[in-house]
Amino acid sequence: MSNNHNDRPIGVFDSGVGGLTVVRALMERLPLENIVYFGDTARVPYGVKSRTTIETYTQQIVQFLLQQDVKAMVIACNTIAAVAADKVKNMAGNMPVLDVINAGANAALNATKTGKIGVIATSTTVNSNAYARAIHAQSAQTRVVSQACPLLVPLVEEGWLDHEVTRLTCKEYLKPILSEHVDTLVLGCTHYPLLKPLIAEEAPNITLVDSAITTAEDTAQALLSARLLNTEQKEADYRFFVSDIPLRFQTIGERFLGRSLEQLEMMNLG
Ligand code: DGL
Repeated sequence: MSNNHNDRPIGVFDSGVGGLTVVRALMERLPLENIVYFGDTARVPYGVKSRTTIETYTQQIVQFLLQQDVKAMVIACNTIAAVAADKVKNMAGNMPVLDVINAGANAALNATKTGKIGVIATSTTVNSNAYARAIHAQSAQTRVVSQACPLLVPLVEEGWLDHEVTRLTCKEYLKPILSEHVDTLVLGCTHYPLLKPLIAEEAPNITLVDSAITTAEDTAQALLSARLLNTEQKEADYRFFVSDIPLRFQTIGERFLGRSLEQLEMMNLG
């Protein structure tokens, strides 16, 4: 296959701005890859919505990314991965589809020594039981303790990454997890990697699994085995599409991405 074909972008998508943590990890792990991002900022949050609604929104996003001629897709949103990954795979045909839940589950299984894993995520992700299913599919005896943390997304978007309110909130949410003596904790939401330092203090001696980093690693492996890696030594092209540009979007987006957010375009899917 010609390298021409391989310079097509990777499509990365999320319910909003949070998936930029995955884009950031992809930029670091695969610096030559072009990326098209879609964030459904007009309809975020997904983490409290029903499966049917999330499936409908997801199909619209995937349709849009297919029109962008992507060569692979990365479901950066844990909530979408939890309830609509099969829909994405059906629409994507033969192209590689990676998602944060499989990546996070595998990394947690590799990390745990005691066989007790904690998962923190949005309410929809926790209710779907998707992390526990992904872990149990490989290791039925592993114990999984999950906790929904719906207050953490707004706290992160507020920028309260090292704030007393966030610390107390985390402490409260982590109580049931810590009382089960897990040795590994999956940060099962796009926003939680930004709270890593704070969570590490509240959950000492527990290995934190950042699914953004593990997803980037999985993507690299998938592109390699599908012979889809871009080898052109050109500066990568990044395009960011969002369904709304709300107040403070630029600031919040840059916090997630860890660099300036350029080439931002509005795209209404509904
Ligand atoms: N992106 C979502 C996730 O990772 C968090 C934000 C939302 O609720 O839409 O679960």
